Amino acid sequence: MPGRLDGKVALITGGASGIGEGQARLFSSEGAKVVIADMQSEKAEVVIGEINPAGGEAAFVQLDVRDESQWQAAVNFTEERFGGLNILCNVAGTNVRVGFDELTIDQYRNIIDVNLNAAYIGCRTAGPALARGGGGAILNIGSLASTKHGGSSGYTISKTAIIGLTKNVALGFASQGTRCNAISPGHVDTPFIRGDNPHSRNDWSTSLENPENYERRLAGTPLGRLQTPADIAYAALFLCSDEASMITGAVLNVDGGAALT
Ligand SMILES: NC(=O)c1ccc[n+]([C@@H]2O[C@H](COP(=O)([O-])OP(=O)(O)OC[C@H]3O[C@@H](n4cnc5c(N)ncnc54)[C@H](O)[C@@H]3O)[C@@H](O)[C@H]2O)c1
Repeated sequence: MPGRLDGKVALITGGASGIGEGQARLFSSEGAKVVIADMQSEKAEVVIGEINPAGGEAAFVQLDVRDESQWQAAVNFTEERFGGLNILCNVAGTNVRVGFDELTIDQYRNIIDVNLNAAYIGCRTAGPALARGGGGAILNIGSLASTKHGGSSGYTISKTAIIGLTKNVALGFASQGTRCNAISPGHVDTPFIRGDNPHSRNDWSTSLENPENYERRLAGTPLGRLQTPADIAYAALFLCSDEASMITGAVLNVDGGAALT
């Protein structure tokens, strides 16, 4: 059976873990060649080590999404390794879960750099490569925080602006045949909200390991379960495939109805 992404090459930031990893695995199973661009090389190699023996084609490139020169190197690597670039997924993200007054200016700047400015640089850097392939698809990852303004301030601000970026890029690249859409996930069970990683620190009060925190998130999800990376990946697959060839500038909530509460 033909894959829904046969012949496509996808570059996925944050592809070593969680939502990006889910996209890397699903996109690969649907025929895409996948470049995982991340700072966590060991985790990425584990994912690649499972995709390739299963018949997929995946490769890793070291990328700190805050670094413009590394972006150009990642795009060059993708074109050289797989002969082009058709899909860019800006998934890498960070958060610091403290109150408005407690967030330092440096922490604020870093959140904006990783969650927002990196996606802007990524779109700008990948744009010519996508156009060379006849036009492609960009997917940005927003958040429930894009529409509900609770939570930590830098994060909410960055994810709200992702919507503006998505619409701006959609208009800017339309004449080149490149589309740009966003997904706003709700509460997705990944290391981002379960573990204690340098890019996403959690203590007992914020971690899913805490039953109270888990139940609070569940209670705010009308469809009655937290999301999985696969829930987000299936929506991403559609938006990045030719099935969505007339969809651009859209923001799709994949949150079990959480934004409705
Ligand atoms: N998990 C959730 O509940 C949830 C909800 C809404 C939105 N999101 C968003 O989804 C995206 C992915 O989150 P996740 O849940 O998969 O988290 P995750 O922690 O599982 O994965 C995030 C990945 O981003 C990478 N990363 C972080 N900073 C980076 C940098 N500077 N350069 C390159 N890579 C970097 C990490 O190494 C990691 O592999 C983030 O943008 C996050 O804000 C997550």
